[in-house]
Amino acid sequence: MPAGGFVVGDGQKAYPGKLTPFVLFTCVVAAMGGLIFGYDIGISGGVTSMPSFLRRFFPSVYRKQQEDATTNQYCQYDSPTLTLFTSSLYLAALISSLVASTVTRKFGRRLSMLFGGILFCAGALINGFAKHVWMLIVGRILLGFGIGFANQAVPLYLSEMAPYKYRGALNIGFQLSITIGILVAEVLNYFFAKIKGGWGWRLSLGGAVVPALIITIGSLVLPDTPNSMIERGHHEKAKTKLRRIRGVDDVSQEFDDLVAASKESQAIEHPWTNLLRRKYRPHLTMAIMIPFFQQLTGINVIMFYAPVLFNTIGFTTDASLMSAVVTGSVNVAATLVSIYGVDRWGRRFLFLEGGTQMLICQAVVAACIGAKFGVDGTPGELPKWYAIVVVTFICIYVAGFAWSWGPLGWLVPSEIFPLEIRSAAQSITVSVNMIFTFIIAQIFLTMLCHLKFGLFLVFAFFVVVMSIFVYIFLPETKGIPIEEMGQVWRSHWYWSRFVEDGEYGNGLEMGKSNNQGIKHV
Ligand code: BGC
Repeated sequence: MPAGGFVVGDGQKAYPGKLTPFVLFTCVVAAMGGLIFGYDIGISGGVTSMPSFLRRFFPSVYRKQQEDATTNQYCQYDSPTLTLFTSSLYLAALISSLVASTVTRKFGRRLSMLFGGILFCAGALINGFAKHVWMLIVGRILLGFGIGFANQAVPLYLSEMAPYKYRGALNIGFQLSITIGILVAEVLNYFFAKIKGGWGWRLSLGGAVVPALIITIGSLVLPDTPNSMIERGHHEKAKTKLRRIRGVDDVSQEFDDLVAASKESQAIEHPWTNLLRRKYRPHLTMAIMIPFFQQLTGINVIMFYAPVLFNTIGFTTDASLMSAVVTGSVNVAATLVSIYGVDRWGRRFLFLEGGTQMLICQAVVAACIGAKFGVDGTPGELPKWYAIVVVTFICIYVAGFAWSWGPLGWLVPSEIFPLEIRSAAQSITVSVNMIFTFIIAQIFLTMLCHLKFGLFLVFAFFVVVMSIFVYIFLPETKGIPIEEMGQVWRSHWYWSRFVEDGEYGNGLEMGKSNNQGIKHV
């Protein structure tokens, strides 16, 4: 028997503990940290298609839009300032997620969540009262700082708090909140756009204070994770908390393993340089590739620009926002499917199924847009059935993303890093996610203008590459305790050469024989 845990039939550890109301409550509250990110994603696209907002802050885009509808439809929204408005947030989030690494590690996961809430709140207020473009951009930078902190801390918090058997489902609460945030923002945009006097955008932007207050208050009432308490030397407190969280008295096995993991963690002074060590190669690869691929699915083209896109394919502004609401609802519903399935069917199955589904839809959408818009972007009169076919396939695509790369893009990184590099590696995940969100937001409208329908084929190509990557390189992590994750690398045909037995991360892994590893699928 390995140090401090007991082993079930197939050699995996199984700690006692149930899904207690307490853990459920803490995870639901913490997961709401995803609301701020989601709300922002949903709001930006809708606001930038409100004529009154464009007229006030981006008059050149507004004028172009008013021009004759026979001009090239692929290019009507192509404006660097408008895209800078949308994407400035992602650069700010990138920077703050790096700072959050230290806060999360040294002062606990909660404090990062608190900072996230406060900064986001400040950004929302400045945006709601904006009078000039610079105010909009400053506001968005603050929102970005908030998101960087929250996205760094919340997924880690959830993965550490959850009993390992339910880790997938509880962690996906974060993605569920993102999708709910997006949907709520889209519905609000739909109604606020109708406000006479054209100041509805102020409510849309200022409304972000509500999710910000939820995470701020949430972080004040939540306990920190036992992993983090132990990491910071509060052993007794951590043990009491662990008993409460797991709902059983005897938590000594899990507790001892957490302490062992923390000892290893204490020995590391510089988590950043440590990340470059050979034995962390699989973790570093996943910390970079998973968020990179998540963004290369092209999902944010739909999320940010759905109203713009639907407008381009022939809907009026109102109907465009409404279609965005439809895709937003599909996004929420399909995320529930992954909550149900992730700990049953596993991560790999969802990744591969979702990838196939997205690929088919991207090909169909490219063909539809290509057939009607051709290369000069002048479709003439678009029949209703055409718009319905495009929206249907976009919805099936969104569903594919929402039960695969959406939630797993946050879940898998948060559960595979050993404690000693967890916070730093998670910051890398957030940064890579943000930088590619930024790049796509920044260049999508220009790419649409130049690549036309071929843009969707570019994303389709990446979906093929990422599915092959998952098939070959990503081990299954379902049902494995978080501080025991070393075994999945040791038993992997490729990664085992980097992660030698006894050389892997935390103390409790040391000296464990190979036959206690799981079999890689
Ligand atoms: C991604 C976002 C995306 C959202 C859509 C998240 O997992 O990180 O970039 O907009 O899912 O639901």
